[in-house]
Amino acid sequence: SQPVTAAIRGRLLSFTRAPAGPGDLDCLTYHEDGLLLVGADGRIAAVGSWEELRGQVPEGVTVDDHGGRLVLPGFIDTHIHFPQTQVIGSYGTQLLDWLEKYTFIEEQKYADPAHAAANAAFFLDELLRNGTTTAVVYGSVHPQSVDALFAEAEARGAGLIAGKVMMDRHAPAALTDTAESGYRDSKALIERWHGQGRQRYAVTPRFAITSTAAQLEAAGALLREHPGVHMQTHLSENTDEIAEVRRLFPAARDYTDVYDRFGLLGPTSLFGHCIHLSEAEMARLSESGSVAVFCPTSNLFIGSGLFDLDALSAGRRPVRTALATDVGGGTSYSMLRTAAEAYKVLQLRRRNLPALAALHWMTRGNAEALGMAGEIGSLEPGRWADLVVLDSHATPAMNHRMETVDGDLEEELFIQVTLGDDRSVAATYLRGRSSHLRQ
Ligand code: GUN
Ligand code: ZN
Repeated sequence: SQPVTAAIRGRLLSFTRAPAGPGDLDCLTYHEDGLLLVGADGRIAAVGSWEELRGQVPEGVTVDDHGGRLVLPGFIDTHIHFPQTQVIGSYGTQLLDWLEKYTFIEEQKYADPAHAAANAAFFLDELLRNGTTTAVVYGSVHPQSVDALFAEAEARGAGLIAGKVMMDRHAPAALTDTAESGYRDSKALIERWHGQGRQRYAVTPRFAITSTAAQLEAAGALLREHPGVHMQTHLSENTDEIAEVRRLFPAARDYTDVYDRFGLLGPTSLFGHCIHLSEAEMARLSESGSVAVFCPTSNLFIGSGLFDLDALSAGRRPVRTALATDVGGGTSYSMLRTAAEAYKVLQLRRRNLPALAALHWMTRGNAEALGMAGEIGSLEPGRWADLVVLDSHATPAMNHRMETVDGDLEEELFIQVTLGDDRSVAATYLRGRSSHLRQ
């Protein structure tokens, strides 16, 4: 086994499974005074109580003592757009106008590798400041945007799943590829980056409006030719979008069927939004093992609608789900803020989101949705030592509210989910190395 090179002490909290409901603390592994040991390979070597493991800290390794703070697996964001860091917070539009008025202008800047590199540094900084250690990322149409992003992630020890957007119509000429060049450029990126260090590729046709049938066909070919790569796209976000897809693909049964016809459904496929799906579409997503990605801050900000978790999760044909920010349609890089908005969306659907479920979703749940639970998402030996340290007293409002919490862990976690954000992220670790320390 690897020599221990780092030791992190705090209130260690990790999930072994999804909670059945509020109060189901048996889904947790929790050490009130815990110690996590990291091997030279950046993976977790041991997790236990301070008393049990303190003797295994080698001489010369200083313990990072986070005292009363919570130490969780780093957050996982399953849908975010790298070239939209300067689109976030754009006023007044819904999806199709938002794309035209803001997004398709801004994304053109990523043809410039220097712009892409500078923004890749910002993007990784911002993810880590928010405690996000793995993200599934849309690049721009330009392959150099994805090169810049992967290079920055690999240099920091972070693992991304990312891909260049494929779009060959209904966008400015400067932002379109062709079915052939989109295929070729994606393939070259897969060969360059998929499995390179921690990086993985996602074939990324933007959505059915901006890809011809020929391009969706090419996306399907890429998936068949490269087993293990992910696929990401958008599905059923906005009612005007859905009407346009119907017009563009009159032979398809529904929006989901557009992607299904080209072999784009499956257990490594991530579909952003999935708000306005029919029963038949949910059944097909379920059957294929596809993942529906809930992006609450985006769905509220661009007015798309309310994700129907109950309908999607129905026991007779459950659709796998994941949680994500969708910056820059989304309004926060924080998975805590995202979970808080998810709670509110579900309130409007007359159901709740327990703190345990929210935190499970952001960590182990999203790891399972990516098929990566053996690598990330929990504090277990062999997993990457990607960690977030949370301070439940980070702001006056949190500190004041915590005065009423008499050692009730679940209540503290709900306060963290409801009031927490980047201010409550005290530190972030990648592979056992500090990659962000709050000022
Ligand atoms: N649908 C197609 N492209 C996009 C995008 O960039 N953001 C969102 N939220 N939806 C999309
Ligand atoms: Zn998106």
